[in-house]
Amino acid sequence: MMQKRILLIVAGGIAAYKSLELVRLLRGAGFAVTPVMTRAAEEFVTPLSLSALAGEAVHRDLFDLTAEAEMGHIQLSRSADLLVVAPATANIMASMAQGQCDDLATTLLLATDTPVMIAPAMNVRMWQHAATQRNLATLRGDGIAVVGPDEGDMACGEYGPGRLAEPAAILDAIRARLTEGPLTGKRILVTSGPTHEPIDPVRYIANRSSGAQGTAIAEALRDLGANIVFVTGPADAPRPDGVEVVEVETARQMHDAVTAALPADAGVFCAAVADWRMRDAGASKIKKDGSGTIPALDLVENPDILASVAQGEHRPALVVGFAAETDDVVAHAEAKRARKGCDWIVANDVRPETGIMGGSDNAVTLVTAEGAEPWPRLSKVETARRLAARIAEELA
Ligand code: CTP
Repeated sequence: MMQKRILLIVAGGIAAYKSLELVRLLRGAGFAVTPVMTRAAEEFVTPLSLSALAGEAVHRDLFDLTAEAEMGHIQLSRSADLLVVAPATANIMASMAQGQCDDLATTLLLATDTPVMIAPAMNVRMWQHAATQRNLATLRGDGIAVVGPDEGDMACGEYGPGRLAEPAAILDAIRARLTEGPLTGKRILVTSGPTHEPIDPVRYIANRSSGAQGTAIAEALRDLGANIVFVTGPADAPRPDGVEVVEVETARQMHDAVTAALPADAGVFCAAVADWRMRDAGASKIKKDGSGTIPALDLVENPDILASVAQGEHRPALVVGFAAETDDVVAHAEAKRARKGCDWIVANDVRPETGIMGGSDNAVTLVTAEGAEPWPRLSKVETARRLAARIAEELA
């Protein structure tokens, strides 16, 4: 196989030192690395360290005559299989979202016709600022893949999301992005996990979904080359690496995130969405009034995300729903397939004695227009691989 080349842009943040480890991992995994630094990055790591690890000269200057004579910046921007910005600061994200190009790094990013991935790293407040989140949405809309950021202690002493994803996770994401498989070039939306519906500021309605099956499906589809948008509620399962992750809490937020992620070639709706939410989740905690009267919860129905996508304007070519059943599994799943307008239903038997809900195995029946196909009891990872292979066949 031809050696793949990564054009790595290191922007100026404290996390820039981790780019050295990333270069080391990339080289170890067989990638060639063309390093590019912004001026600010040079305040954090030296060009010499970066070029020594990359085994190639660092590109730094837009107006460097020697470099320009050897390889012009337009050609440089297209000389790699993937452009990776790690760390991506708030500043470079803002420039990218605006299409500004006032140095070599931003010019390469604007001139390229190669896929781009960013690994953001910044202070938590800067990450959460409306402007950064707006820029992030713009970049995602432009098809740029995003890895991380992670949540944790930060160099500035604060805690929260904004830490650069671990170099090993960035490497996984890069590998996944460059994997050629039957689903290369396909965009697949996966929903996962439970939703939480607030009752008041401290209580919520939830369910026992762990998100394990959703994560396994996203990883299996990713491994076949698909670009995944993974919209997850507050699940226990780890998030899949190398995919775009959108975190939500409630069914309505999930509905909005799913709508924003369309169009897609396929949608796999594993999430155990809460069917109901409070009509008014108050801003104050509900108190016992001492009379022994139990407060009635005034519930309204949540939007059915699967049905609205299956019957909506931007319907993916393949829409896969899940059904959790305790009896008459196939009959209920067939009725659900027709009612919601999806192509397939993956039905699981969730009677407590099966140990499936929250366990590591699954026993599903795939219900399609052709009929019901019972699958053997398999691990959730195996079930996911089998489903991903079927999806690949269907989209071929
Ligand atoms: N679903 C959804 N939005 C909802 C409810 C469900 O997208 N508001 C999706 C789930 O992700 C899943 C399928 O619809 O793919 C499950 O349908 P649902 O009607 O909730 O069925 P079950 O959970 O199986 O339970 P029941 O039939 O008891 O409602």
